[in-house]
Amino acid sequence: MQQQRVLILDFGGQYNQLIARRVRELNVYCDLVPSDMSLEDVKKYAPIGIIFTGGPNSVYDEGSPKVDAGIFELGIPVLGICYGCQLMAHTLGGVVEKADTSEYGKAEVKYVSSHITFDMPASAVCWMSHTDRITRLPEGFKVLASSDNCPYAAFGDEQRKLYGVQFHPEVNHTFKGSVILKNFLYNVCGAAGDWTMSNFVANKVAELKKVIGDKKVLCAMSGGVDSAVAATLVHRAVGDNLICVFVDHGLLRKYEAEEVMSVFKDGLGMNLIKADDGAIFLEKLAGVGDPETKRKIIGEQFIRSFEKQAKAIGRVDFLVQGTIYPDVIESGNGKSAVIKSHHNVGGLPSVVDFKEIIEPLRDLFKDEVRKVGFELGLPRKVVMRQPFPGPGLAIRIMGEVTAEKLETLRDSDYILRDEIAKAGLDDKIWQYFTVITSCKTVGVQGDFRTYENVIAIRAVTSVDAMTADWAHIPYDVLERISTRIVNEVKHANRIVYDITSKPPATIEWE
Ligand code: XMP
Repeated sequence: MQQQRVLILDFGGQYNQLIARRVRELNVYCDLVPSDMSLEDVKKYAPIGIIFTGGPNSVYDEGSPKVDAGIFELGIPVLGICYGCQLMAHTLGGVVEKADTSEYGKAEVKYVSSHITFDMPASAVCWMSHTDRITRLPEGFKVLASSDNCPYAAFGDEQRKLYGVQFHPEVNHTFKGSVILKNFLYNVCGAAGDWTMSNFVANKVAELKKVIGDKKVLCAMSGGVDSAVAATLVHRAVGDNLICVFVDHGLLRKYEAEEVMSVFKDGLGMNLIKADDGAIFLEKLAGVGDPETKRKIIGEQFIRSFEKQAKAIGRVDFLVQGTIYPDVIESGNGKSAVIKSHHNVGGLPSVVDFKEIIEPLRDLFKDEVRKVGFELGLPRKVVMRQPFPGPGLAIRIMGEVTAEKLETLRDSDYILRDEIAKAGLDDKIWQYFTVITSCKTVGVQGDFRTYENVIAIRAVTSVDAMTADWAHIPYDVLERISTRIVNEVKHANRIVYDITSKPPATIEWE
């Protein structure tokens, strides 16, 4: 049976990806596409429902995005959110007016029970963010919610299955907002809830089997969540015809390389080749202190290392990439097939000889990738791995990278992670690691004077790494971390705690 899907037309609002994630969380597949999708393409897509997102414009702005009025004649239910509801009202003959002041933040709304407001309380808080407001509804619509400032906070035409909400049901500040989305999807669009990760795995494995057949596939495994889940899916479909290359640049955390080999080679029986190139990377990094030069050297050597392995393998038909849905949306790529034609992606060398690229995760958000990882039986430490930069520990050692500093960093980082996990904080902190500063200080250990490295603890909370706050780790946990590092780790005699947010600082120190 064809997977049901909802089409979300993107009018440029800041919460648009969140709308798509909420719909998916309600077990309905959806795609977020540019709002200028033609009526013909909308029909071809055959959605069970359409959602118009919010956006920064006024319907009266010159060049503001519009829709073909024919979209309301297709018999497909539509839910307009914020700008989307104003556009619906404006297009269908209602009146939208500029208000003197914008309304941002929480507002109390009174609900009338109906299809989309079914099961909502008589009155509750919602999240508003708008300047214009609707002052007259188009014919056939009736009001379903109102606030002091907004007489038509929600409205609908039950005959034509057209609905609008001025507030944002997708954000957590709107009380029971997801109930409104659920009502729209299930009561109005007739969703069956067929988007589940077990369905996804079964369908994707069948599709990959069909596309790949008995041909050969190559994958660069980094130890990160996306490449791990992508490789495991492909492996389930084609077994030994998948060849994975893991470039160990010697800049990974303690036991990380061993874990990758143990999970994927020993555990899953993957055809996994490890390029043990740590010594080459260290040699290339010798004497280099500048952060950007370090990054460039590592990036280039990574490609050379991968290329060497790929050449030994010879020609393959497909290359696996761990592209995920936010990358697809951000590149403006929209919806397309699983397989794109061959072009040079992600800086991989053109000499790596393959015909096509496979991106098995290109329809998934990060939280869905993690769910698929669990569905495939991958261990928690792989699926919930915190973000880790490609250049690895090299950008957590200020100045030149040496084998001795790497050991100090690995050991201190291991203690930090151990204590954070023991304190039950590992799910609450986005990223946490230690840094070797470029500073040495005097200390006293036993009866001896020491002159050793200052180690910094960096721990942040964040949702997308674009902004971050320093994590408030309790003092007693910090104390245990500090005591253990100075006692157990060589060449460290002082610990400091980084209490800077991003911006103005970045998460990493280099
Ligand atoms: P910053 O330090 O810019 O980091 O606040 C934001 C996020 O990106 C990660 N990061 C990198 N990832 N290559 C990567 O693959 C890099 O060069 C790099 N630099 C930073 C960082 O760990 C954080 O999650």
